[in-house]
Amino acid sequence: MSDGVLDRRESYEVDSLGLFEVIGNSVAIFERARAGAGTVDLVWPQEAIQNVAIAGMGGSGIAGDLAVGVWRERLRHPVSVLRDYYVPGWVGENTLVILSSYSGETEETLTVASQATERNAPCVAITSGGKLGTFYRDMGVPVIDLPAGLQPRAAILELLVPLAVVLGRMGVIAPPDAELDDARQVLVDSVDVLGPAIPTDQNLAKQVALGLLDSVPVIWGAETTAAIAQRWKCQINENAELPAYWAVLPEADHNEICAYGDPSTVGRMTQMVLLRDPHHHRQVQRRIELTRELIAPALGGVLELAADGNTPFGRMLDLVMLGDYVSLYMAIARGVDPGPVDMIGRLKLRLAETGYGRTPDPV
Ligand code: PA5
Repeated sequence: MSDGVLDRRESYEVDSLGLFEVIGNSVAIFERARAGAGTVDLVWPQEAIQNVAIAGMGGSGIAGDLAVGVWRERLRHPVSVLRDYYVPGWVGENTLVILSSYSGETEETLTVASQATERNAPCVAITSGGKLGTFYRDMGVPVIDLPAGLQPRAAILELLVPLAVVLGRMGVIAPPDAELDDARQVLVDSVDVLGPAIPTDQNLAKQVALGLLDSVPVIWGAETTAAIAQRWKCQINENAELPAYWAVLPEADHNEICAYGDPSTVGRMTQMVLLRDPHHHRQVQRRIELTRELIAPALGGVLELAADGNTPFGRMLDLVMLGDYVSLYMAIARGVDPGPVDMIGRLKLRLAETGYGRTPDPV
């Protein structure tokens, strides 16, 4: 579809929750989030921390994956992202537990919060409120307050920037100031070149969005771009309401590559997006090139996108912003409102009918 739909102002009227306005305000949001997280009293000395668990689901959990992806080789302590109801056995008094839930109402994250508290783990909540905010505030636990009224996935900077600041302040990573400065500039540039006012023939995000319509996007990342591939996939699912899948190299070279050995009907419906970082391991660079050569004949198309930026955090945000815009443009091109996520809400309502409690420990 290239009938100019993405260049017509009226096409955007479907965006009932103003997601384009939110992404267009990324620089101001980033600055506010950075300043806010710097002033919260974190209570504990750095020496108290031996490992870190970041608990969160969906649009709130991805902030943890993105942070771990960026700093993976430079983490000073082990960091795990928790995405279910149980905390691992190693979580204890020397574990910094960061609860990331935009709404503060996500039952998996709330269950982790209560278990972390039982184990006397130092906790920090990043939330707009809900039960999580109330629970921790009543106990005197640090809470980083987010503005209410956003979709969790649209609050990615509100969630991710404080997380980076907290990890820096607690000595889990080196002070991230230079990376945050770079990231701010990346956001300025992204909004400038990818926003709706930039016509399709000059706008990479619009072009990628139109290229991915009518296919099944499969997003592959590696190392620093692995979590970004996951973010792209989730954004296409939630904003454009379409199937999309993600995988990671080198692992996919040990299994998924077999799906694209010979042409098949499903293979031809697949558009592969390879997210590259110029700083990938040399063997990963080679893998991407060789893998592409081997699988391309069986696919509907292959697109390579390379991160731009002076630091790992900046490069990560460069590709995250591109993917966010792509998913939003896919929604607009389909005439779909990118805001509401009715299916997620319906499931949560059904679960709430029976309530939840702490399920017994596994034996
Ligand atoms: O994008 C979404 O709306 C979801 O993926 C939510 O982020 C997820 O359900 C968790 O909710 P919350 O982010 O409020 O903890």
